[in-house]
This record gives sequence, structure tokens and C-alpha cells, in this order.
Amino acid sequence: MPSKDNVQIAPADGTLGVLIPGIGAVSTTFMAGVEAVKRGLGVPVGSLTQLSTIRLGKRTEGRSPLIRNFVPLAGLNDLVFGGWDIFEDTAYEAALNAKVLETSLLEKVKEPLSAIRPMKAVFDHEYVRRINGPNVKQQGTKMDKAQMLMEDIEQFRKKHNASRLIMIWCASTEVFHKPAAVHQTVKDFECGLMKDDPEIAPSQIYAYAALKSGVPFANGAPNLTTDTPALLELAKERNIPICGKDFKTGQTFMKTLIAPGLKARMLGLNGWFSTNILGNRDGEVLEDPGSFKTKEETKLSVLDHILQPELYPELYKNFYHAVRINYYPPRGDAKEGWDNIDIFGWLGYPMQIKIDFLCRDSILAAPLVLDLVLFMDLAQRAGMRGIQEWLSFYFKAPMHAPEIYPEHDIFIQLMKLKNTLRWMRGEDLITHLGLEYYD
Ligand SMILES: NC(=O)c1ccc[n+]([C@@H]2O[C@H](COP(=O)([O-])OP(=O)(O)OC[C@H]3O[C@@H](n4cnc5c(N)ncnc54)[C@H](O)[C@@H]3O)[C@@H](O)[C@H]2O)c1
Repeated sequence: MPSKDNVQIAPADGTLGVLIPGIGAVSTTFMAGVEAVKRGLGVPVGSLTQLSTIRLGKRTEGRSPLIRNFVPLAGLNDLVFGGWDIFEDTAYEAALNAKVLETSLLEKVKEPLSAIRPMKAVFDHEYVRRINGPNVKQQGTKMDKAQMLMEDIEQFRKKHNASRLIMIWCASTEVFHKPAAVHQTVKDFECGLMKDDPEIAPSQIYAYAALKSGVPFANGAPNLTTDTPALLELAKERNIPICGKDFKTGQTFMKTLIAPGLKARMLGLNGWFSTNILGNRDGEVLEDPGSFKTKEETKLSVLDHILQPELYPELYKNFYHAVRINYYPPRGDAKEGWDNIDIFGWLGYPMQIKIDFLCRDSILAAPLVLDLVLFMDLAQRAGMRGIQEWLSFYFKAPMHAPEIYPEHDIFIQLMKLKNTLRWMRGEDLITHLGLEYYD
């Protein structure tokens, strides 16, 4: 039977190597989780690629396959992991230190996690100020370091006989930087690497090495990284998918659930105050004002884009929005996020909503890492290149084309993601019109 696919998708044969800068709380929870699921020790809760179905055709057709049976995705048994960190701890030791998963569970996956020894990192204390570690590439220019990363990538590829690779940034949040002259074109960027331009961040050296090696790059943190003309140009030139930025997990996930609901009912907003306490290494790095500024930018932009004050001035013109993150070590990874939302209804009468989300950061982030790895690999096999806007669902600050605003509403993001999968396989897009049921 001829395929109805709109794109040719190469099969997901062989091993998929997952390369991760940052062997910390999120990445070890992800890797330990995959190993646990493979052994039947847990369920991959929170992962669309593992648990979600996708409706096809009309509601009367009863066709709702699992996403993983609808599009060809790599299986969990096909994944191999590697990465870089400034500390020498194996993934097993890093997972113990992160204290997200119980030791009894980690014991059961000790063998594969202990085999993951971080390669020497490309690190710059100017970009992440609160931590320092010994496992760092010391010599050479930024270009030399990019070359060393490319060698690491090739060695990993050979060692694991990987047919394909994906890189996903799970390292600390770098300090806030805007795109500079050196980020304008690939040529400028390469000159900058050779001249050790201070505007080039470590995350950009990793991204450059990935793209030059033909490896898709996803950015789980809010750093600028690939959100620059130079790296976008490189991704397009090399036909490689990229996506980012900043996993949408705790409080921002809640925001993008609630705000579309308020707007859907045309309820107004006077103010939204968000504060967090968390005690993991991420929290420690975010104590630094430079790193916090990067995070704050991605967290603040969400409400404006969802509520569109320019279209609804009576409801959203002057709402006050503040976000705080407080490092509080006793909590470890078990973050608490409070939201106080001052809303108003009919004739301007005020009301309040309070949210107290006792969440676990890395437990929420791990399934997003898994989905991004599998979907980015799918995108690569489907020949999709540049920004993957259909993966906005996973990010606080989704990358987008310069002429459009980013889509933050989680329900629109989900529809976009599923419609992209339907489109890939030549199925009808679902518009939710539904008039045909009443003819
Ligand atoms: N957990 C969440 O819900 C969530 C949500 C959105 C974004 N993030 C982001 O994901 C990232 C990881 O979070 P985490 O909780 O695992 O943090 P973590 O501090 O536990 O892990 C980050 C690791 O990156 C390492 N690192 C720092 N700079 C590096 C470099 N240049 N190269 C290689 N390694 C480097 C650190 O040594 C550390 O081990 C952070 O940037 C965080 O802001 C997390």
C-alpha cells in the first residue's frame, strides 16, 4: 500500500545515543528512570511518547493509537547515554547526591548508571558563578574546545556503535546575555571561537559542536544558546533540528494551565505573584543574580503572550507580575511554588486564587527529557530542520520564527504537537469543528 505520509521518515533502526551536558539532578533522574522502566520497576508517568494516545479521523471511527505506535520512535532499549560535567561523579554517584530518587531504586540500576562517567566539560566561571569543579577542559581556544567536544562525540558514537545521536542541555543555567555581534553569522561565530570571544557561552560551544557533528540539539535551560542567528543558520545549513528553551515543569506549567482558562472566560487580572523555595544545585546556581535574570526573563514572558494585553486592555493592561526564586537547602529537589493570583470578574469585582504546588522538579522534568530526545530523533529522521516549534509544549520560552510571537498556551501547544504528528503521517488534522456529526 502506498504511504500517505507527507514526509519520508527513515526507520528508527539501531542505537540512539543521548549526549547530555550536565550530569545533575534532571539528567540522572531521566537516565535512572529509563533504566528502571526497562526493568519493569516503574511507569514513565508524564511522558507523551510512552503513555499518550492520538485520536485519528472522526470521533465515530474509534481510532486512538498510542503515539509510539503511530510514529516510528526509538525504543527505550535502543537508548545509550553519555555526557559531560565539571564534576567527576558517575551518573550513579550524581543521582545519589541529587537525592531525587530513593537509594533502594538507584541500587537496582547501579550498574548502567555507574558506567556513565562524565567527559571533561567546557566550562567558564563567568557564565556559571556559584560552582567550580575539576573535570574541565583546560587548554586551548574556544575553537579548540569545540574540536575536543566533536572528538568526544565521535568517540562516543564509535564506542556505542550509535546509528544516531541527540544532544540535550541539562547543565546549569548560564548568566543572562543578549545576542552580540559575534552571534550574527556562522562566519562571525567561528571567528569568535578562534579569538576566544567572551560573548560565546559554553552552551554555545556544545551546540556548535553538536550541529557540526550532525547532531540535533535541545536546550533544557533558559540560556540563549541556539537562539542566535549564527547557530540557527548552522542548523538550517546542516539540516538539523533544534529546540528550546527551558523545560516547562513546575510553576510555569501551572501558569500556562490557568492563564488560558482565565482568558477563555474573559476574566481580568490585577496581579500574579509567584515565589519558590528550592534547595538543589539548580537553586544554588539561581541564587546568582546573573543566572536568575536568565530564568526570570523566560518565566515573565509567558503571561503577556497568553493574555495579550494589547488586544484586551480592560482585562490585562497593567497587571503586576513578579517571580522570585529562593534557595532554601532543606528542601532539596522538593520545591514549593506559591502563586497568589488577583483576578476580577463581572463589573470589576475582585477575587483571588492561591496555588501551593508541592512539586518535585526533576520528577517533572525527566519525562520531558525523554520525549524531547525521542521527538528530536523523529524530526531528524523526517528531514525536519531548524526550529521545531511543534515541541513548544515542552518549553517555558519556546523558540520561534522572528516574525511571530511564541505560543505559550499549553492546550494550543499540545494540539500543534499532535497535528504535526498527524501531518507527518498524512492523517487529517483535527480542527474540532465537528459540524458533520449534526448534519
Ligand atoms: N528541574 C526542572 O524542573 C527544570 C525546569 C526547567 C529548567 N531546568 C534547568 O535544567 C538544568 C538542570 O537542572 P538540574 O536540577 O539538573 O541542575 P543540577 O545543578 O543538578 O545539574 C546541572 C549540572 O550541570 C553541570 N554543569 C554546569 N555547567 C556545565 C558545563 N558547562 N558543562 C557540563 N556540565 C555543566 C553542573 O556541575 C551540574 O552537575 C538547569 O539549567 C535548570 O535551570 C530544570
